[in-house]
Amino acid sequence: MIGKEYEDLRELYEEITRLEQISCLLVWDQNVYMPDGSIASRAAQTSLVTGLIHQRYTSKRMGELLAKLDRKDLDDDQSVVVREISREYRRKTAVPEKLAKEISRTESEGYQIWVKAKQNDDFGSFASTFEKMVDLKKEVAEHIGYDDVPYDALLDGYEPYMRSKEVVSIFSDLRTRLVPLAERIADSGITIDASPITGRFPKDKQIDLSNRILEDMGYDFNRGRLDETEHPFTIGSMDDTRITTRINEDDIRTGLYACIHEGGHALYEMGYPEKNYCTPLAEPVSLGIHESQSRFWENMVGRSLGFWERYLPEAKSMFPSLRGSSPIDLFKAANSVAPSLIRVEADEVTYNLHILIRFEIESEIFQDRLEVNEVPQAWNDKYSKYLGIEPENDSMGCLQDVHWSIGYFGYFPTYTLGNLYSAMIREAMVTDLGDLDDLVRKGEMKKILAWLRERVHRHGKRYPAKELIRKVSGQELSALPFIGYLKEKYSRVYDISL
Ligand code: CO
Repeated sequence: MIGKEYEDLRELYEEITRLEQISCLLVWDQNVYMPDGSIASRAAQTSLVTGLIHQRYTSKRMGELLAKLDRKDLDDDQSVVVREISREYRRKTAVPEKLAKEISRTESEGYQIWVKAKQNDDFGSFASTFEKMVDLKKEVAEHIGYDDVPYDALLDGYEPYMRSKEVVSIFSDLRTRLVPLAERIADSGITIDASPITGRFPKDKQIDLSNRILEDMGYDFNRGRLDETEHPFTIGSMDDTRITTRINEDDIRTGLYACIHEGGHALYEMGYPEKNYCTPLAEPVSLGIHESQSRFWENMVGRSLGFWERYLPEAKSMFPSLRGSSPIDLFKAANSVAPSLIRVEADEVTYNLHILIRFEIESEIFQDRLEVNEVPQAWNDKYSKYLGIEPENDSMGCLQDVHWSIGYFGYFPTYTLGNLYSAMIREAMVTDLGDLDDLVRKGEMKKILAWLRERVHRHGKRYPAKELIRKVSGQELSALPFIGYLKEKYSRVYDISL
């Protein structure tokens, strides 16, 4: 009877996946095309679909099927499917409905209050909502359960199977290597000339170039499309994976790298085997692995010398202001390093210091070692210690990111994990395929994609992130490949020995 029960589970899960796809389309349309006046009905539509998904996921039927299948002999694929649906079922059913509703209310309130607080540079007006959100999330952690610290239960929602003590140990190693590296670059006194990359870059030409590059990367326009939004994002998966970009006509980097970044996310979602569609075997492992794909394409491909050797001739024919520049000029301009206050504008070297600061503050809050009203001071102290700069106000400091206002505790570390994973993946790829710069220069990006498909994408949720990385790289997760990659690259960018 295992066949029947498993087929029933697949059917139920397919319905959930289809509803999620509908929800994605609603969100996509809201950001790309929806008229402003439709916001209220769109919110009602989205909440209706979200409710339907939740009902199905936490239904009695789901519980019964999972309980029966738990005791059966399953093949490899079936075990993964049952394991992953059970995992999510447990997380969803652990939280009482009343608490879930209160969280969702506090999230939308919190978001509004945060927007105002950031505008008015008034942390005080946000503090009590922040505190309430922390308390609610502590409650959630108690319901879900954890091995070591409550933060584990939250982290597990974004980076399944990862524990905070592992993150603490890897991040502290990263910090002791990264801080001096950033200092050595700053102390070199060398400033990179960013002028080649600024100028006049008409929007339609930028879109043409982006489309061309996405096609070279292997992005399938038959199963996706590119649009413009204020904040770039990727949405959907499998046979409908859409991306958006943001264009700045004065600086080619904004649109170009947003597009390559989102393209990297999309290639992952497009890379699952069709036979596994609408199961966890056609879903991403974790946010960290997702981000490893976007950052790999953005930084390791898009910001490489080989990239500019490949694309500069074409870019010059579109943008006359580039005509006096060489590939090395563009390579350097795309990789200048400077400590800055705003995370989303940070370069590849200092970016992770921004994340370490957020992770440390979150961990301390959830271990009751830091009060919410002490966050601004802790933030400023850490910026001054790790980056040598301090924000003049909280809008540029601890109020800059949306995450805490909507209760995304445990999300930040996935950005840095993504960077560390990407460096480990890159190292393994170079061993198999040879020099990455060479491949990109020769326009052999499809070889890169085929390798990623085989080693990462096609597995879906089969392996937890750490295991996947171990399989891909033959190594345990560590900060060393990332540090090695930075040293090699930035020695070239700055002509110094790091
Ligand atoms: Co991303």
